[in-house]
Amino acid sequence: MPEIQYTVDRDVALITWNMSSSPMNVLNDLSIPQFEEALQQAYADETVKGIIVTSAKPEFVAGADLKMILRNNDKEPAEMLKVSAELNRIFRQMEVCGKPVVAAINGTALGGGYEICLATHYRVALDNPKTQIGLVEVTIGLLPGAGGTQRLPRMIGMQAALMLITEGKKLGVQEAKAQGLIDDIAPTPEAMMEMARAYIAANPTPVKPWDQIDKKTGKIVARDNFKVPGGNVQSPVGAQIFTAGTAMLMDKTRGNYPAPLEIMACVYEGLQVNIDRALVIEARHFVKVATSKVAKNLIGTMFLGMNEANKGASRPKNIPKTDVRKVGILGAGMMGAGIAYVSAQAGIEVVLKDVSLEAAEKGKEYSRGILKKGVERGKVDPLQVDSILDRIKPTADYADMQGCDLIIEAVFENRELKAQVTREAEPMLAQDNPTGPGVFGSNTSTLPISGLAEAAAKPENFIGIHFFSPVDKMMLVEIIMGKQTSDYALAVAIDYTRKIRKTPIVVNDSRGFYTSRCFGTYSAEGMELLKDGVSPILIENGGKDAGMPVGPLAVTDEVALDLVYKISGQSIKDGALSETDTSYQVARQFVELGRLGKKAKAGFYDYPEGAAKILWPGLAQIFPVSEAQPTIDEVKTRLLYRQAIEAVRCFEEGVVRTKLDADLGSILAWGFPAYTGGALSFVDFVGIETFVETADRLADTYGERFRPTDTLRAMATRGEGFAKMAKPAPAVG
Ligand code: NAI
Repeated sequence: MPEIQYTVDRDVALITWNMSSSPMNVLNDLSIPQFEEALQQAYADETVKGIIVTSAKPEFVAGADLKMILRNNDKEPAEMLKVSAELNRIFRQMEVCGKPVVAAINGTALGGGYEICLATHYRVALDNPKTQIGLVEVTIGLLPGAGGTQRLPRMIGMQAALMLITEGKKLGVQEAKAQGLIDDIAPTPEAMMEMARAYIAANPTPVKPWDQIDKKTGKIVARDNFKVPGGNVQSPVGAQIFTAGTAMLMDKTRGNYPAPLEIMACVYEGLQVNIDRALVIEARHFVKVATSKVAKNLIGTMFLGMNEANKGASRPKNIPKTDVRKVGILGAGMMGAGIAYVSAQAGIEVVLKDVSLEAAEKGKEYSRGILKKGVERGKVDPLQVDSILDRIKPTADYADMQGCDLIIEAVFENRELKAQVTREAEPMLAQDNPTGPGVFGSNTSTLPISGLAEAAAKPENFIGIHFFSPVDKMMLVEIIMGKQTSDYALAVAIDYTRKIRKTPIVVNDSRGFYTSRCFGTYSAEGMELLKDGVSPILIENGGKDAGMPVGPLAVTDEVALDLVYKISGQSIKDGALSETDTSYQVARQFVELGRLGKKAKAGFYDYPEGAAKILWPGLAQIFPVSEAQPTIDEVKTRLLYRQAIEAVRCFEEGVVRTKLDADLGSILAWGFPAYTGGALSFVDFVGIETFVETADRLADTYGERFRPTDTLRAMATRGEGFAKMAKPAPAVG
């Protein structure tokens, strides 16, 4: 089947991307040769005066096919070099072919898709609010390997280009025009094609500013003395950009993500030579990142894995699609208000109930606040505000919940109260929906779902739907199966999660479920390090250097030490934890000192008014700092291994059901570093044999909590990591 159509109309060749083998247009082994063939046909046809590249799909070209990149990831670098060199050859020929080539950008053009546009002579985009334009490769550990790092700075200047490429920014059409990524905006598809034709008619032989016509041969060739707009690399501006920029990126990535620094190097080296040589330099840097473990992990978990989870990888297959149209929310506090907002925004009718109408109204105000900010920042269409707010009905009356497809309780974390509201609200659930009865969800963060379900008349329709705070920003929802929860209830919970555009993972009922249990070990190991006399600064830097968003002590302050005390105390009561447990002991001590954490403006840190937090000087009295300090690598190792081994235990115990859920949950819920691929993939990242060996050493030195499980040992003997358990990568898009 042709992936790309070729037609000639009124002296202009139309090359239209319309892939049949993939839901989206992507650059891959099938489309690239066909694109090249179409271009060759246009070059060779003397009647063709110009070429328009466009797409018949809603998007222009979404980027490179990441499966192709993954296939070549751990092969010989030469294989990857071929991918980049081939694209560069095709795109460069387009640029110097002597005929005008135009990109008629009807929709999204990202990564390699936008690199096609960059190699054309004129870019006109349709005024389409859904269009996103940009070089986003860095977000999956790559760099633009088809000329992007060289053409964009030559067009818009180094500083502007570096900001966009190192951050992987996506721009809307208007912004793309303002920043010079495209030349014009067309109001309609017809106007877009007419503007493309007009450019062709007016520019029969366009030459890029970084090219020139060779006087002897008459051919277009690279120019050696091209001046980059805004200053060359060696200009004072250039020197500043590269020294300050590299330092900033190093601070941000802590050396864990190679791509941003490779992009800097690429631009720095490439801009000092002509475009032909620059493209060779770019290809070399591209191969370095594209064959890295980090790129493999980011593509595997954060792109392909996330797509798989969002397509319902954990959804029971035998249940027809369900649709939550009316949701009831019990408790309009921090969490209830957030859940109401994301639901209303997704077009769901919301009944928001609290103990009084005033309390419920206050919860609705939260949505008004977010929407107001969104409008101010241009992120929310002002015309939509009223309709979103109209969907939220604040109430103090259960009767308003009549006919809800789903009710989620987010009242105080109290077993008896939750049981009471369950009994009162459950009868309001829809009974005669065509897709099945209504489902009851609990947003509890710690109480076992099977126990809470005992209050329900239909425990099979009771499920945990655990959101993270702040609800509008956190992308993950942890869905918890109680002992009696049915596949039907799970399907409803997953369909709802997708409707509000969040990513679901499914876990089994267990203390702390999956995410809180593993996250707790990060904070706990921070306290173990303190107890061992490690300098608190070293502990915090170790956490951040390992790639965690904040240090373990800072995050414990945010969670609050009284909560750690309460939860660990409950675990001791239930016989699941020893009273000598370090986090219990430390939390108790801090609670006694009245240092409850950030909310009390005193915890491991002091929080002076109007200034940045500082580590509490009194820490040294409680935990004297030893003279001999470990290396920062040892601190990082302890912090990461402790979390990973807990994730392994959860996986073995069946708390988390798939490797993908374990990985995604770790990154999205508690910020486990994405470069590792996630908490389970971390084992493969360091290598199974190294993992077991190191974990044994840590266990011998610091305690049995690090001891590898028997399954891990067996895996190490076989030399097989968790990768074997991963499903094959699904199609892109
Ligand atoms: P919150 O204290 O902000 O809100 C609780 C709300 O429930 C209050 O507005 C209260 O008036 C209301 N309420 C009490 N009794 C009620 C009743 N009979 N009917 C209706 N409403 C009633 O608490 P928050 O932080 O929103 O937590 C709610 C639940 O979510 C808890 O189970 C908590 O463990 C869980 N959770 C909290 C997270 C967090 O970061 N705060 C994260 C994930 C889950």
